[in-house]
Amino acid sequence: MDRFATARDLIIARQPDRPTFGLRPHAAGEAARWFLKNFPGDVAYAVKANASPFLLGALYGAGIRHFDVASLPEIEDVASIPDAHLHYMHPVKSRTAIRRAFFEFGVRSFSLDSEDELAKIREETGDAKDLTLWVRIAVQAKNSALPLERMFGIAPTKAHTLLGKSRQVARKLGVTFHVGSQTVSPEAYVTALSEVGKLIVRAGVVLDRVDVGGGFPSAYTNSRPAPLTDFIAAITRAYEALPVGESCRMMCEPGRALVSEAESLIVRVNSRRGNELFINDGAYGALFDAAHLGWIFPVRLLNRADPTPSAELTPFSFWGPTCDSIDRMPGPFMLPGSVAEGDYIEIGNIGAYGRAIAGRFNGFGAYEQAILLDPPMLSVYGLEAGVGHNRGPLLPA
Ligand SMILES: Cc1ncc(COP(=O)(O)O)c(C=O)c1O
Repeated sequence: MDRFATARDLIIARQPDRPTFGLRPHAAGEAARWFLKNFPGDVAYAVKANASPFLLGALYGAGIRHFDVASLPEIEDVASIPDAHLHYMHPVKSRTAIRRAFFEFGVRSFSLDSEDELAKIREETGDAKDLTLWVRIAVQAKNSALPLERMFGIAPTKAHTLLGKSRQVARKLGVTFHVGSQTVSPEAYVTALSEVGKLIVRAGVVLDRVDVGGGFPSAYTNSRPAPLTDFIAAITRAYEALPVGESCRMMCEPGRALVSEAESLIVRVNSRRGNELFINDGAYGALFDAAHLGWIFPVRLLNRADPTPSAELTPFSFWGPTCDSIDRMPGPFMLPGSVAEGDYIEIGNIGAYGRAIAGRFNGFGAYEQAILLDPPMLSVYGLEAGVGHNRGPLLPA
C-alpha cells in the first residue's frame, strides 16, 4: 500500500475521486502497547471495531494475542494469526456458528447469558471438557455514548443459577459485561465490578476470569474523556476488592480505544450550499456515527491555504453522497469559512466502527486507502500533533 507523510501529501499525489482511508497503523500499535503495559490482565482486541489486516497486523506486532470475535467471518479473519486466542463473546450464536467455531477453528472460549445458550454450547461442542465460559451480566451504563445493556446480559441478581450451571460445564469460568461504548468516566466499571462481587458471593462459585469488556473511550471533538489511567486505577481497585483467588485473571476487550485514532477519512466537497457541504461519504458509509449518534469527529481542510484563526472557524454540517435525506451529519464541523467545492477535508479518529459499518447503498461505499505516517488528529495517548488546518501553498490545479 502507498505511504504518505500526511493526508495532504496523499491528496497532492492522488487527488482521489473516491473517499480515502488514511491508515495510521503506528497509532494502533501505540494504543495496544499502552493497554498491554497498563492493564493488569489480558487485552483482547474487539475485532468488530475494524478488521483491516493492516491494523490487525499492527496490533499483533505490538503484542496483542487475544481477540474478541462476534461472528464466523470475524473468526476467519483472525483464526490464522499465530498464537491467537479467540473469545467468541456474542452471547447469542447460531448452532452452526458454535459448531464450526469449535471444530473448525479451535475456539474454546464462549460467552452466554441464558441457560438456552449454555445448552446449545454443550450440545454443539459435544460436551467439551476444555471450555472457557463467560456469563454475561447486564450492567448499568453511566456516561456512555452508546449503552449496550438492553440487548444482552442477565440481571446480576438473577445470574447465580446460570453461573452455578456454567461452573459445572466450564474448565474456566468467567463473568463478563460491557458498560457501553465511549464511556467517558470510570464509575460504570466500578459499579459493574461491585455487582460481580455480590454475584460471586450469592452464587458461591470460584471464578477463574473477570472480563471488564470494552467501552474505553477515544477522543472526539465533542467528547474529551477522563484520562485512561483513571480507568485503569479505578478498575484495579475495584477488582482487588473482589472475592477471587490469586489464579483469577482479568481481561478487557477494547475496540474503539485501540483503533479509533488509527484511521482518518479523506473526503472531497462536491457542493457547498451555505454552511452545508455535500461530501463524497456519509451516513451509509464511514460516517454512520456522525449521523446517528451525533459524533463530531475532528476535521481539517487539507488543500487550501487559509489563514483563518481557529477562533473564527465556521460551523458546517455535512450531507453524504446518497439520495436519502437521513444521510446527514449535523456536526457542527468547524472549518475555515472559505471551504468550496473541490476542497478535501480530513476527518480524523474514524478508525473505530467507520470502515466496519460502511455499506454500498446507492452504489457508493468504494474507498481508496493509503498509509499515513503522521500523528492522529486527536489522541488519548498524547500522540496528537494538533488539528490545524492547512496553511501551506494551494494544491496545484
Ligand atoms: C462483547 C463486546 N466486547 C467489546 C466491544 C468493544 O467495545 P468498544 O469498542 O466500546 O471498546 C463490544 C462492542 O460492541 C462488544 O459488544
